[in-house]
Amino acid sequence: MANNRENWGTKLGLILAMAGNAIGLGNFWRFPYQVAKNGGGAFMLPYFAALLLLGIPLIYVEWMQGRFGGKYGHGTVGCMTYLQAREKVGHATAAFLGALVGMLVFSVTTLVNAYYTQIIGWTLGYSYLSLTGGYMDAAKSTGEVFVSYIQNPVMSLGFWALALAMLAYALARGVQKGIEAWAKVMMPLLYLFGLILIVRALTLGSPVNPDWSPIKGLDYLWSPKWNELKWESALAAAGQIFFTLSLGMGIIQNYASYLKPDDDIVLSATTTVFLNEFAEVILGGTIAIPIAFTFLGPEGIAGGVGLSFIALPNVFRMMPGGQFFGAFWFLVLFFAGFTSAIAMYNYLITILEEDLSVPRKLAAILVFGFYIVVGLPSALEPIVTKTADLAFLTELDNWVGSYFLVVVGLLEAIVVGWLFGEKKTLQEINSGSHWKLSSSFFNLMIKYITPITIAVLLIFSTKSYIESG
Ligand code: PFF
Repeated sequence: MANNRENWGTKLGLILAMAGNAIGLGNFWRFPYQVAKNGGGAFMLPYFAALLLLGIPLIYVEWMQGRFGGKYGHGTVGCMTYLQAREKVGHATAAFLGALVGMLVFSVTTLVNAYYTQIIGWTLGYSYLSLTGGYMDAAKSTGEVFVSYIQNPVMSLGFWALALAMLAYALARGVQKGIEAWAKVMMPLLYLFGLILIVRALTLGSPVNPDWSPIKGLDYLWSPKWNELKWESALAAAGQIFFTLSLGMGIIQNYASYLKPDDDIVLSATTTVFLNEFAEVILGGTIAIPIAFTFLGPEGIAGGVGLSFIALPNVFRMMPGGQFFGAFWFLVLFFAGFTSAIAMYNYLITILEEDLSVPRKLAAILVFGFYIVVGLPSALEPIVTKTADLAFLTELDNWVGSYFLVVVGLLEAIVVGWLFGEKKTLQEINSGSHWKLSSSFFNLMIKYITPITIAVLLIFSTKSYIESG
């Protein structure tokens, strides 16, 4: 098969692009609110367990699948699954599995984008509002500002379409000049602004209650609460690990399909996980939660989806220099969302380019149109219904994040662990790697622990969901 696909230009570009893919709104918007919703420290225990038992094994699996597929000229997951399953089960069953996984991943992508691009639009709009002081006037509560923002078609649809157009423009230029170039600018800025915000968060004193210190906010996140552990929170934690590492979405494989045969998968994948977890637990956890806690107390943290867009602007309003810190915060969110959505765009462009021979520039425009269509229901929900609870968006996020991604992960572990097999998997992962993954890691984790843990989680959380009505 002719294979004239692009490769990543540099090692740094590859790492920043992969980190950009993983570090997204999941880290800054979703993580704090999931922690808040699921009992703080009670969430963190299953979260770290899921990182070790599911996240790390599957990230190697997905990188491996991606490079393997890239050799055959394919950046889409259905084709990779087909090629890998064919090793053991023959053409017909492999084709069925490939189609099943491909369709599931495509549906996940579509469902995630049905609301994710919307939030990217808000982050761009709120960066603008921060710079212009748009939410600083105390005459209107920040809740009211948010409601009028999402119900105002010019603002909410305008910034959303602008963000999508920027993405299309970036993607039309290809892997190196598009994805890699933007990641090289946005990712360092994201860390820089994030670190400035951490220093700000940790040096705050509460103007409201001297007991509400930033450290107490961190306590909320870090003190383990064994007795509050529930199956649903365990599934939510696993879902968060999948979401934040971009697992089960097909986009890690897509990026990994541009790897060269001698790129070091073990080191690069591990570095990406490390950069992502730093951005999630340290930046995501240390900025939003302590800031909200210091000004708004324990109640302020339980802000649901509105934590980033309602609770924090309220704090920026009260804080000296808040307008600038607000701008840093929303730009961090925007850079995070943009460099992740770029991966989703590219995944769809790859399908158009490789399966339907559409030229890249046209594909970028078509994907722009597709994003508009799938995003329209959540974009229009507050405008048309004049409501502000974002019920559709929140429901989608819960289902995709906590269910579908995890199901895809289970299928991947089965295909790679049981059909593709140890020899080929390790050969692909370890070629070019300085540290090699061992046979016992494959046999213990990828073959047994990862799929069994996912199966147990799905069974028990579904049972407890049904029982609780
Ligand atoms: N890992 C990304 C995040 O944490 O936000 C997940 C993601 C979602 C990537 C949506 C891309 C995307 F379009």
